[in-house]
Amino acid sequence: MGNWNDSHAISYDERWGELEFHRKIPGLAKVEPGYSILELGCGGGFLAICLAQSAQSVKVSALDPTEKMIALANERKEKADLRSSQIQFIQAGAEQRVAEDTSLDLVIAAFSVHHWQQPKLAMSTIFNGLKSGGRIWICEDLNMPIEGDLEVDTSLKAYEGIRDLLGSSGFVSIIRSLSTSDEGEFLIVEATKP
Ligand SMILES: C[S@@+](CC[C@H](N)C(=O)[O-])C[C@H]1O[C@@H](n2cnc3c(N)ncnc32)[C@H](O)[C@@H]1O
Repeated sequence: MGNWNDSHAISYDERWGELEFHRKIPGLAKVEPGYSILELGCGGGFLAICLAQSAQSVKVSALDPTEKMIALANERKEKADLRSSQIQFIQAGAEQRVAEDTSLDLVIAAFSVHHWQQPKLAMSTIFNGLKSGGRIWICEDLNMPIEGDLEVDTSLKAYEGIRDLLGSSGFVSIIRSLSTSDEGEFLIVEATKP
């Protein structure tokens, strides 16, 4: 699962791993105290740490199939002095069910959906893991170049492709917004499990 190698991971993390936009995501995604959050395609873990630190008693599980990304994420976790009860990084793809949890409040995928090898399978796994009323929050950078030789699904970098994937997986109240800054033009798509 996953086709990123060490060199993709290191060059991506150096350039894009810590954005001001990552710091804004907990607010944009309306994280509340006590939330149980799953982040998919967490890369080097900076966003997961921002989420864990954003409100009291937030618990974050963050997955990425790339071994080097999980190593970078665990280094950041150690520096941030966070406990494993607050945040855990797991080497796995979005398609893999890593827990029988069905009580997630929020699933977040930043710049990662277009990299998933089996997006339909991943989305049904996510749907099953969310509680009723739970939300998925996705963002894509409309201008970020694709890492060199990686195979991606470009339809999942656009609203229509993400909307169709969410709708066919059972999500409702699909909302699109845009956030623009000098870092980029970020498409945001949110949806709810009925
Ligand atoms: C463009 S990076 C985004 C990293 C991070 N979310 C961020 O905001 O910087 C895409 C990530 O998707 C991961 N990825 C690749 N295949 C995946 C899959 N099947 N499921 C979840 N993540 C995957 C890659 O390992 C990589 O870390």
